[in-house]
Amino acid sequence: MSDRLRAGFAAAYGREPEGVWHAPGRVNLIGEHTDYNDGLVLPFALPLGVSAAAARRDDGVIEVRSHQAGEPVTAPVDGGTVVSEGWPPERAWAAYPVGVARVLREHGAGGASLLIDSDLPQGAGLASSAALECATALALCDLHNVEIDRPALARLAQRAENEQVGMPCGLMDQSASLLCEDGRALMLDCRSGLSAQVPFDPAASGLTLLVVDTRASHALTGGEYGRRRAECEEAAALLGVAALRDVKDLAGTLGTLRDPVLRRRVQHVVTENHRVEATVGLLRAGAVPDLGAMLNASHLSLRDQFEVSWPEADTAVDAALRAGARGGRMVGGGFGGSVIVLAPAAKAGRVRDAIAAAYAKRGWTAPEFLDAVPSGGAARVTAPWRR
Ligand code: GLA
Repeated sequence: MSDRLRAGFAAAYGREPEGVWHAPGRVNLIGEHTDYNDGLVLPFALPLGVSAAAARRDDGVIEVRSHQAGEPVTAPVDGGTVVSEGWPPERAWAAYPVGVARVLREHGAGGASLLIDSDLPQGAGLASSAALECATALALCDLHNVEIDRPALARLAQRAENEQVGMPCGLMDQSASLLCEDGRALMLDCRSGLSAQVPFDPAASGLTLLVVDTRASHALTGGEYGRRRAECEEAAALLGVAALRDVKDLAGTLGTLRDPVLRRRVQHVVTENHRVEATVGLLRAGAVPDLGAMLNASHLSLRDQFEVSWPEADTAVDAALRAGARGGRMVGGGFGGSVIVLAPAAKAGRVRDAIAAAYAKRGWTAPEFLDAVPSGGAARVTAPWRR
């Protein structure tokens, strides 16, 4: 990708880029809708992601172009927020890099010219937005000699998405993109910001972790994600805790909430945090095959208690289990996107066929499959050509 970007950058801007930075997408093994409840998550990075060729500018302007988007977008780095400027839909993709530039400006970064390329499917729930933010953030910090440690940079990228794009996401995706390591899942405590690298190698246990892009595209800037977050915050306020992370006695607590919807939301978040802890325990004990039960419990909870699953995800998980998978669940924010399936390697072909057949029976667009290999986090991928 770097050569194509370097050549494309030279053609677009009439100069060489100063480097190429890459940031991966992620799959969340478990811990969904827990991050903005100050809870626990366990994502790992994918080998796919977003790359940015970039060169510094000192005129206070950021210009972004992309192999995947139409018109170039130019904006001042000291503008207000993209949300308040009411950008038209064709500029919406650029709100992420411009938003990051505006947040990082407060920390000493400035403008840049960027050319973006991505091999990560968009709308597949694999955190392509966070990858775009993180590739931009690393490039801007390097180009302007700004030193920010990675956990802090993840929070700034999250802030850019919250304030500039208007998507009230949690901390998971940006942290995964910046902090993950090869062959490991990242256990992140979203309250303290502390994390641990947990070895995760399904192949060593004769297993395959498949990512199934259900081809039902999600758009989290739509209202449902924000509504779930608001419900969780309302429940926490009613229960007198800082965040749902702090609910200790689930059975006793549920009895004090009158609203059945809020009860379901609390039940999901509290049990999902427990499942993250249990999953880390299984990984550390080398019991990878037992993860299947955790994935299944997470999926049912997301479907029935948190109500963020969608028909293609339920059908894919169901078909995979019938074909011999050990477990599966929806990943990401929900309402579209991807599913992960843990299957014995010898049965992976049969599982794919069963999911494809279930789709064909319903007349749905065929799903796409990726092998999920836990990979490294964001990095500068080329040495500087000049500087
Ligand atoms: C999206 C958000 C994350 C997280 C997940 C759900 O990916 O960006 O912060 O809330 O949904 O776990």
